[in-house]
Amino acid sequence: MTRLWGGRFSASMDTLMAEFQNSISFDIRLWDVDIQGSLAYARALERAGIITPGEAGQLTDGLQRVAAEFRDGSFATRPDDEDIHTAVERRLRELIGDVAGKLHTGRSRNDQVATDTRLFTLKAIEQLKRQVVALQGELVKQAEQHTGTLMPGYTHLQRAQPITFAHWCMAYFWMLVRDVERLNDCAKRTSVMPLGSGALAGNPFAIDRAVLARDLGFSAVSENSLDGVSDRDFIAEILFCNALAGAHLSRMAEDLVLYSSAEFAFVAFDDAYSTGSSLMPQKKKPDAMELTRGKSGRLIGSLVSILTLIKGLPMTYNKDLQEDKEPLFDSVDTLSLTLQVVAGAVRTLRVNPAKMAAALDPAMLATDVAEYLVRKGVPFRTAHHLSGQAVALAEHRNIAMSELSIADWQSISTAFGSDIRQVFDFARSVASRDVPGGTSPRALQEQFQRAHTWLAQHRPGSGFDQLSAGADA
Ligand code: ARG
Repeated sequence: MTRLWGGRFSASMDTLMAEFQNSISFDIRLWDVDIQGSLAYARALERAGIITPGEAGQLTDGLQRVAAEFRDGSFATRPDDEDIHTAVERRLRELIGDVAGKLHTGRSRNDQVATDTRLFTLKAIEQLKRQVVALQGELVKQAEQHTGTLMPGYTHLQRAQPITFAHWCMAYFWMLVRDVERLNDCAKRTSVMPLGSGALAGNPFAIDRAVLARDLGFSAVSENSLDGVSDRDFIAEILFCNALAGAHLSRMAEDLVLYSSAEFAFVAFDDAYSTGSSLMPQKKKPDAMELTRGKSGRLIGSLVSILTLIKGLPMTYNKDLQEDKEPLFDSVDTLSLTLQVVAGAVRTLRVNPAKMAAALDPAMLATDVAEYLVRKGVPFRTAHHLSGQAVALAEHRNIAMSELSIADWQSISTAFGSDIRQVFDFARSVASRDVPGGTSPRALQEQFQRAHTWLAQHRPGSGFDQLSAGADA
């Protein structure tokens, strides 16, 4: 076996040790960013006068041929390819000969891998943002169909006050707004280029790092080479962004599992997003949502892995850091797939307004009764108490609150007039919550307007994605 670093070694590596330390099985997916980084680095070496334009041309052609092999699937890894960086360089040497050995001048795999992983992360952020925005589009579409669809709103999973299904959809829309903004913020700190940090102390060949960073689409260069090669904060950050987005999706999934049960029957999933039971023929299971809930555990696990990985590391690069990639890749893949499935499930979700309306209970208007008294000048605390007495009286009589007679109401307080009857109207209650952010159909129109403005600014091609430089550079 010939290893890149084989100069001082006489004996070969134990087979299990080789298996233990190799990362090619998973970091192979960095091939495109690795070659992108090397192409730019070759240009930087040329600009610094370290290699001739002719040599730079040979390196560029060779790297492009390696890229073509990856693209058409003909690239073959060899047992002594430790990782993607050594594999690309090994192949480059086979294709263009010894001049390949000039590419790594002043560069270490330490600044190289940190650069590659940042380029990968920036692309992943753009992809995830697009997928979140696509899901948000589906939520708004459902919401716009259901501004008049009344349903119980819950606290403590108890019927609390009437809301609209549109309002429920939009709650998740705004949660996802924060997820996109968080990813965008993460991109700002990811878009810092470590290349030029060398192994740890810096590049000795007067590379123009600012030009190199611009070439690669980074918005800044790392300020300190020690930090440059060992900083994995950006991975912790994207894993947090993903874990929290996953937690949001998991909450939505939990609502929808519940709402699709026979006990609620508020919604039904399309067959395309359901599974059957191998034993019970009648079953149609909300597996898409259960897996969404389950995957969030995995997203949180990846975040915990990376935090645990970095917390005790001495300066600077340590091989422990090779363990950063699998949680990163898994988190991105998991969230990406989840987002697409949830978008499909939301798009094809069938809503049952009759079932939602049937779950509304006049007692959910007890707050409105208190508000009625407030409008007659009764202090809210007293009004709350009097409304509570009406709830108790109805319960005692085993009738709905709306069935109490005027005499019943007046036995509780003379502040109640015959117009108390008008309070028992769920649509009226919903319409009265008319502040910005409220559930009234009018306030919802405002939400939609803001949502559409936001979506227009965050759809692909809107310029928003360019905020996180480095992506698709
Ligand atoms: N495969 C390694 C990683 O992912 C690349 C960096 C190797 N650097 C080193 N000093 N051994 O971390």
